[in-house]
Amino acid sequence: MSDPRHIAIIMDGNGRWAEARGLPRVAGHKAGVETLRDIVRAAGDSGLDFLTLFAFSSENWSRPQSEVSELLGLLKLFIRRDLHKLHKSNVRVRIIGARADLAADIRALLYEAEALTAANTSLTLVIAFNYGARDELTRAMQALAQQVASGTLLPEAITPERIGAQLDTADIPDPDLIIRTSGEMRLSNFLLWQAAYSEFYFVSDYWPDFKPVQFFSAIEEYRKRVRRFGGLPEENIPEFSDKAEADIVPLRHSAG
Ligand code: FPP
Repeated sequence: MSDPRHIAIIMDGNGRWAEARGLPRVAGHKAGVETLRDIVRAAGDSGLDFLTLFAFSSENWSRPQSEVSELLGLLKLFIRRDLHKLHKSNVRVRIIGARADLAADIRALLYEAEALTAANTSLTLVIAFNYGARDELTRAMQALAQQVASGTLLPEAITPERIGAQLDTADIPDPDLIIRTSGEMRLSNFLLWQAAYSEFYFVSDYWPDFKPVQFFSAIEEYRKRVRRFGGLPEENIPEFSDKAEADIVPLRHSAG
């Protein structure tokens, strides 16, 4: 199996990492940002094309106000501190999620990160912020419904490709591999449409303890997987031959 082009990560367990050390939850998120930096570097070194990180879900607003502010603050700090380094490393930054709902200063930072790095050609770092897959799909359906209502789109012209092109991830390939840390084994409203044929890799470590060596192990494991996309692995697809045809003909006769 070839190398993955796109890895997406659910960075889970920051809070439990901190609680296990008697620290406030925000200490876990801060340690999580350090891991995030190491993994972005490892992804660049591995030659990966796309790395998507689930940084803040549309459901995370229900956390205590203080934790929400800390998470928003960490995102701002990350962009202010790391953007130029990422740009120098030829990393392109893309943000997915409901941007319209965010405060103006955060929106401006996100646009700045995307604009500055738009022409970069090594790794594309996709940050899922205020992202929820059901919300993304709902926004896409509303946009398509509007086109139908205005007469510019026929209902029968709605195809999986057109739906994909309406999502925040338009022109980003589907993730080949999704990693989740902290031992939880669920998707939690992350990339529901795009994960249709993704491979999954779960580790029990909390995100702050996740190391580049584990990231490389996940890639190694992915190489061993056989992806079928609902069909057959290539080497098992029977080749049409005269012999096969000859085998079939007598059967047809006997059945007739
Ligand atoms: C899950 O841990 C993690 C998050 C909700 C946020 C991840 C955020 C960061 C790594 C830092 C901020 C992001 C950027 C882009 C700088 P949890 O709080 O759900 O942990 P728990 O399940 O143990 O409570």
